[in-house]
Amino acid sequence: MSAFPATRLRRFRRSDRLRALVRETRLDLDDFVLPYFVGPQTEPNADLPALGRYSVEDLVAEGQEAAALGVSALILFGIPDEKDAEGSGAWDDDGVIQRALRALREASPGLVLLTDVCLCEYTSHGHCGVLDGEEIDNDASVELLARTAVSHAAAGADAVCPSDMMDGRVAASRAALDEHGYGETPIVSYAAKYASAFYGPFREAADSTPAFGDRRGYQMDPANVREALRECALDVEEGADALLVKPALPNLDVLRAVRERFDLPVGAYNVSGEYAMLKAAGARGWLDERQAALESLTAIFRAGADLVVSYWTKELAGWL
Ligand code: PBG
Repeated sequence: MSAFPATRLRRFRRSDRLRALVRETRLDLDDFVLPYFVGPQTEPNADLPALGRYSVEDLVAEGQEAAALGVSALILFGIPDEKDAEGSGAWDDDGVIQRALRALREASPGLVLLTDVCLCEYTSHGHCGVLDGEEIDNDASVELLARTAVSHAAAGADAVCPSDMMDGRVAASRAALDEHGYGETPIVSYAAKYASAFYGPFREAADSTPAFGDRRGYQMDPANVREALRECALDVEEGADALLVKPALPNLDVLRAVRERFDLPVGAYNVSGEYAMLKAAGARGWLDERQAALESLTAIFRAGADLVVSYWTKELAGWL
């Protein structure tokens, strides 16, 4: 094929119709997961609406509204009444997530309900596992995480999403789920989860900022991509049903690499800091939030995601 002047790529850019005809990536609400924070009481967040908290009762109404708008899947994060050193609220059968699952399941049977499986919202020290001195005890944590996964499945979760980054949590969760009769419950592993500055607004919302130190001893170093592929390979071996990369936008290369290496469904978490940046810039008139959000989400799918967790999911229902 000869180049210019015979080849003119602008020919297909001349109208909306022509552009639509050759568009490679489209956003579909069915591929989105909307996060919700469930706590002792409802606490709206004026600047970052999707990072507000809901009581179980208000969450039920919210879930119905989201479902009516066409949202198909939620992921739930719980803020317990009380925290302790072990994070026992995480697997309490009467815990906030367990109650939310039962209530949502009944009120909105059509919604896909995912749960984040981690201890950081439940521990008094805010770390994602239990401590031995100032260190995280990996294997003791894994046992508690597996117990939490089982209790979510028992309360009606459609899939559980371990986000703690302990070694071996997927295998332990798979074994525990199978043993308790939840062999059909998939594990969506946050397989490549980086120690990121972009989780800031989430930690405010979930009240899960570590009381000392940081999460670099368990979450991944943002400098590494081969290690992300090893994390994914291990999780696949351990029985993960889908893999998540997180955060999304700083790690589109990782997402692409995971997509090319594995045939499992691959998702990305468009995290709270990514949402907050555009909300803040939009509020100041520095950029058009909607256009910037749509462009970002399109880029995440173009990089290879099959599903995306995004705080824009509800707004997206109106935009698409
Ligand atoms: C729990 C968890 C976190 C996020 C999802 N699950 C916080 C963290 O790891 O510190 C962050 C999500 C976001 O920023 O939107 N461990």
